[in-house]
Amino acid sequence: MVNQIKENFNNFMNDNYRKGIILAGGKGTRLRPITFSVCKQLLPLYNKPAIYYPLTTLMLSGIREFLIIVNPGDLNSFKSLLGNGEHLGITISYKIQKKPDGIAQAFTIGEEFIGESCVALILGDNFFYGNSLPDILVKSSKEKEGATIFASEVIDPERYGVVDFDKDFKVRSIIEKPKDPKTNFAITGLYFYDNKVVEYSKLLKPSKRGELEITDLNMIYLKNKELDVTLFGRAIIWHDTGTFDSLFETASLVKSIENKQRSRIGCPEEIAWRMGWINNDELMSSIKKYKGNEYGKYLKDLIYQENMF
Ligand code: G1P
Repeated sequence: MVNQIKENFNNFMNDNYRKGIILAGGKGTRLRPITFSVCKQLLPLYNKPAIYYPLTTLMLSGIREFLIIVNPGDLNSFKSLLGNGEHLGITISYKIQKKPDGIAQAFTIGEEFIGESCVALILGDNFFYGNSLPDILVKSSKEKEGATIFASEVIDPERYGVVDFDKDFKVRSIIEKPKDPKTNFAITGLYFYDNKVVEYSKLLKPSKRGELEITDLNMIYLKNKELDVTLFGRAIIWHDTGTFDSLFETASLVKSIENKQRSRIGCPEEIAWRMGWINNDELMSSIKKYKGNEYGKYLKDLIYQENMF
């Protein structure tokens, strides 16, 4: 699988260029009192900060240039966690979202960063896992025109943007947090857009809850026949970790997978190394920070195992 990721990535780099935005703003009101002093994207999901998982999801798409959008009071915490990304062979810059005015605001805040590129957006509290995920990510990232978003079957669709299909499974509409959902397919917090996203996001007006809705943006792409909604099968797991239960369930899932297998989920140093963005020496110098701890031992073993086979 590792070689396949690398090969996909190399092919991808030859014919596309996409930047990535991680939105890590919002008040995290559903997770209070935990989020009074720590934002939800920095909470631990078992053994790593929550943002490591969406960051590595975009890294697996081949993206190396990142903008992280944060609340004013959280900037220093994110910078001390991830810095400028150099240790991962990527670049990370930061911008502030003054108030939680909606997910779609990411594209006006990020306008300068996006420039002429295509862009992917991922929500900093979303978790994706699955063997076929890297292939899907690379394929979607290669699309130069329109938007690709993903839907996953859930038992509580009213919490999300919900997709409605006609009898031929063609997308009819997407409705944000419907009281009476027509399907159980929720739109996940991972979106791939062409460069028109900046222009389209400027057409949006605040919704009833006072936010620039990502669903309204996706509806513009749908109306222009530029939207592809890919359905995740059950082999791909998606969690929005914004509630106590989902935070706990995601952490348990990571723990049980990691304890059963030798591999770790959402480890940015590992992905950077496997992608060839950092070499053994650079990985070793990252490991110094983890002296005597499990995470460092795991990274060190990667180099050791590579030399064994
Ligand atoms: C947001 C989006 C929603 C999407 C969800 C995925 O919801 O508005 O369409 O399904 O993220 O996590 P929110 O985080 O605002 O509840």
